[in-house]
Formats: sequence, C-alpha cells, structure tokens
Amino acid sequence: MTVPVIAIDGPSGSGKGTIARRVAEALGYHLLDSGALYRLTAIAANNNSIALDDKQAVARIASKLNVRFDTHEDGSEGIWLDDVDVTFEVRRESTGAGASTVAAIPEVREALLERQRAFRQAPGLVADGRDMGSHVFTSALLKIFLTASAGERARRRYKQLKDKGMDVSLAALSRDIEDRDRRDSERSVAPLRPAPDARILDSSGKSIETVAQVILDWVAEL
Ligand code: C5P
Repeated sequence: MTVPVIAIDGPSGSGKGTIARRVAEALGYHLLDSGALYRLTAIAANNNSIALDDKQAVARIASKLNVRFDTHEDGSEGIWLDDVDVTFEVRRESTGAGASTVAAIPEVREALLERQRAFRQAPGLVADGRDMGSHVFTSALLKIFLTASAGERARRRYKQLKDKGMDVSLAALSRDIEDRDRRDSERSVAPLRPAPDARILDSSGKSIETVAQVILDWVAEL
C-alpha cells in the first residue's frame, strides 16, 4: 500500500508550518518541513565559506547535509547541523533570504529531492513547502495551497519572530516577504504555484484551529 501524503504548499507567512504540524499531530503522521532543508543548505554554505551563487558547490553541500531533527532536553524541537544546534539560526530572516537564493538553483533542488521523498513513511506524511504537491509528491492524496493576504502574512511573521525574541521591523519584514514571494514565484525551476489539482485555502482572518479543521474534514471525506 502506498503511504498517504498530504501536501501543504504556499507562500511564507500563510501559516503552513503551524497548520502542517497540527494536521500531522491530529492524524499521527510524520512531518516534513522542506523549507528547513533549504535553510540548512544556506547555513551550511555560509559555514563553509561558499558563495550562494557558486551553484555546483552549493549543490554539493546540499547533497551532503548532515542534519538531525531531534528534541532538546526541555522537550522543545530542535535542528542540528554537523552536531551543532542551529534551531535559532534556521528561523532567522537572513537565513530565509539565503534559502530562497539557494532554492532557485536547479541542482540544489535535485540534490534535496530524494532526501525529501525519504520522509514518506507509514502511517503517512504531511509535507510542508512550496512544491510538495507540484513536484516532490505529485501522487499526494490531498494537495492544499494555503494563502493569506501579504499584509496578514507580514503581521503573523512579525509576531512569530518577536515571540522568539528576535529584533525585527514590520516594514522590513513586509519588504522581505514581497521580495521572497517574487523570487519564489518567478524562478524557472519549481516556481511557487499551486499544483493543478490543489485545493486553494485562504487563511486570512481565520484561526489556526479553523484552517486545520478544514483540512482534517477534507481528509475525512477522502
Ligand atoms: O518555508 P520556509 O520559509 O522555511 O522556506 C524558506 C525558503 O525555502 C522559501 O522562501 C523558498 O525559497 C524555499 N523553499 C522552496 N521549496 C520548498 C520549501 C522552501 O523553494 N519546498
């Protein structure tokens, strides 16, 4: 039997990460945060003094990422790169910008493909990203494209980063989000676009619980 995948794609700040986690927990499925792999590639390139426009070198780094998704002693989730805790660094806006630069390199996307597909394990997977439904898991059971207005996405991101103790400005965040959306939608390889068979879900003005429940109802109807 093939392992079911629920693909949740959309722009940054649409609430994908939180919603994907909720849905995975409710169903008892595994979770793939594919953006983290692009973020880790950007960090690894920096750590190895590789320029982000050195496509071959960045792709080599992506194919050799030594990553561990684990929990801290206090039970919170963490990410380790070469056994160094990079949980905080992964979420930085500068890391996000680096991720969207390396994500535009076709060889990097190719290098991360099998690693992402390896997350498809019983009893099921919720995959969060930009191209989960359109490229990585084209046979996903359910494909969702989660959107929200740009203003709302910037405000959510602002709150998220502030809560993590990061010093950010709403205006700078809005600009970053617009730049990143543009880069992600205009790149030639796997641009941010709904898969033809994706269901579009607008989360503007809706709570996390409401959006997660819409998805769980869709799953129950399948
Ligand atoms: O979702 P997150 O903000 O962590 O993603 C960081 C960047 O990684 C995105 O802006 C996008 O450029 C890239 N990405 C991607 N494909 C994915 C996930 C993320 O290109 N499946």
